[in-house]
Amino acid sequence: MTALQEALRTIRSKTDLVPRIALVLGSGVDHAASLMRAECRIPFGDIPGMPVSTVPGHTGQFLFGALNGIPVVLQQGRIHAYEGYPMHQVVMPIRLMRLLGAQAILLTNAAGGIRDDLSPGSLMLLTDHIASFVPSPLCGANDETLGVRFPDMSCVYDPALNQAVRDAAEGCGVALKEGVYVQAAGPQYETPQEIRMFALLGADAVGMSTASEAIAAVHCGLRVCALSCITNRAAGLSAQPLSHGEVQTVAAASAANINALLRNSVINIAEILK
Ligand code: HPA
Repeated sequence: MTALQEALRTIRSKTDLVPRIALVLGSGVDHAASLMRAECRIPFGDIPGMPVSTVPGHTGQFLFGALNGIPVVLQQGRIHAYEGYPMHQVVMPIRLMRLLGAQAILLTNAAGGIRDDLSPGSLMLLTDHIASFVPSPLCGANDETLGVRFPDMSCVYDPALNQAVRDAAEGCGVALKEGVYVQAAGPQYETPQEIRMFALLGADAVGMSTASEAIAAVHCGLRVCALSCITNRAAGLSAQPLSHGEVQTVAAASAANINALLRNSVINIAEILK
């Protein structure tokens, strides 16, 4: 039995809920777990083969339940490659949520704003990403039961899902920016010169996650959309030094906006999946 199958069997021994939509809650976005009354909570430590998140602010568990009557699974706390985990383990929760039945995934993260208008507190819908600075989560033998060896990445962020999120933002009066996310390796924040390089490459915001997960999600057939909570101006663009504490504080201050947007987005996405 593969590690995925074994993990799946453990989860299935604890819940028979079949989620339609998966959500990943990133740094400081943990509070969005309150959107849903969880029927079942499974800490990653209880799942064989599952990596355990070591970052403050990342709880590391699956929550199963209904949001406005829509069955969802929520990954609270994500795994990062900089914790020392190989990429295939970083994306293990994504694949598990697919195998549990999810058809679409909404990824969230905290990110540094590179483009001028992306100031702390802004929310950005991802229209594309740059993942060339981190190893692919698809390296190694391909599991054909999940997806093909050479998946197409010309449309990672699903246009219909993106429209659902735009409509959700409009519906709840939340300003929504759009842009390209670049995944840096971390855990150190970038240098000002790295940020100038990312800007030249067309990146609007920078973080240390999400693109790997989006790739794995597309590979295994999930429809993907993603939101960045801009928590700081990227390195060199403001006088302030970067800190994880600031990232968490700013994300927490945006909680009301993020929660309203996520809730409305899930409702709109569920309409599309019908
Ligand atoms: N860089 C990388 N990751 C981040 C940042 C940043 O400026 N802000 C929040 N996560």
